[in-house]
Amino acid sequence: MGPLGRFDQMPRAELSPAPTLLEPLGNLTRATAGAEIWAKRDDAHPLAFGGNKVRQLEYYVGAAQAEGADTILITGAVQSNFCRLAAAFAAKLGMACNRRQEERVAREGPLYRASGNVLVERLLGAKLHSYPTGEDEAGADANLEAIADDLRSAGRTPYVIHLAPGHPPLGALGYVECARELLEQLKAASLEIDHFAVPSGSGATHGGFLFGLRALGCATPVTGFCVRRGADQQKPRLEKRCQEIAQLLGVANPVPPEDVVIDDQFLAPGYGQLNPATEAAIRAGARSEALILDPVYSGKCMAGALKLARELGPGKRVLFLHTGGSPAVFAYGNALETVLQA
Ligand SMILES: Cc1ncc(COP(=O)(O)O)c(C=O)c1O
Repeated sequence: MGPLGRFDQMPRAELSPAPTLLEPLGNLTRATAGAEIWAKRDDAHPLAFGGNKVRQLEYYVGAAQAEGADTILITGAVQSNFCRLAAAFAAKLGMACNRRQEERVAREGPLYRASGNVLVERLLGAKLHSYPTGEDEAGADANLEAIADDLRSAGRTPYVIHLAPGHPPLGALGYVECARELLEQLKAASLEIDHFAVPSGSGATHGGFLFGLRALGCATPVTGFCVRRGADQQKPRLEKRCQEIAQLLGVANPVPPEDVVIDDQFLAPGYGQLNPATEAAIRAGARSEALILDPVYSGKCMAGALKLARELGPGKRVLFLHTGGSPAVFAYGNALETVLQA
């Protein structure tokens, strides 16, 4: 068995042509006057506005298909990219999608509630359910299971994508695949990266990517920039995530705890809320590279990539993993006024 164990035998509903683009951000590098900044453009998957959740859903939906499911159940924030893309997979593969909207962000108004990802998932035909809390992962899963029971009674075959840890981390496999793909791209281009900047939310992207790199012999540092919870909670979550991936693949965990590097500097004041560094990163990405960064995830990770580029200085290279989220800019239009006015 190779370093990725059972990885290539895992069921996968492959919907994204690989590889995604790897590109230098020359204008941003010049403006920052630090390390070269490169982007891996996972925002540019062709499926329904793309983003990191495409790679993750390939493994969840692959498992759902292997079980003969006809309905996907998923939960997330009102403006969830994961839920939007679950609706896209369901539409493309002839399944139904039931999605639960959690109240994670104290934001009202027609843009947040009806535009952006919500509009797109309704276009894609998802059925929406609401859930009053945003910080109860186990409760959210139990509620999904209750909807699944109702669907079973009605003769459907549901597949639940759980939110809380403790379930096989199938989504993380998408980022093991991304690490493998990227290492091949870097080798083909004879390009060396000194530091990777990734967002760290559920941990599927960060955990899978770090695991894939280390399993394949790449020791380059990876910093996960927090988008959802502080570093004190995120670090143990990531360590556990890496152990779960190892267990799923039947290999030893190649990620020592000291390699799980978390930075929560750009999280404040909290999930889905802007801060001055994130506003500056969104503005710089748009005005110098025409990169659309969202206020919840990719804007915060770009703030982190810019910080790393300044710290490392000229002669080094930082790779920013662009995980997408672009439809959210429509929903966060009011909050983005500060970026527009600056
Ligand atoms: C655009 C985008 N980037 C990053 C993340 C964070 O990824 P993960 O949940 O795998 O940590 C998400 C999560 O929803 C996302 O939608």
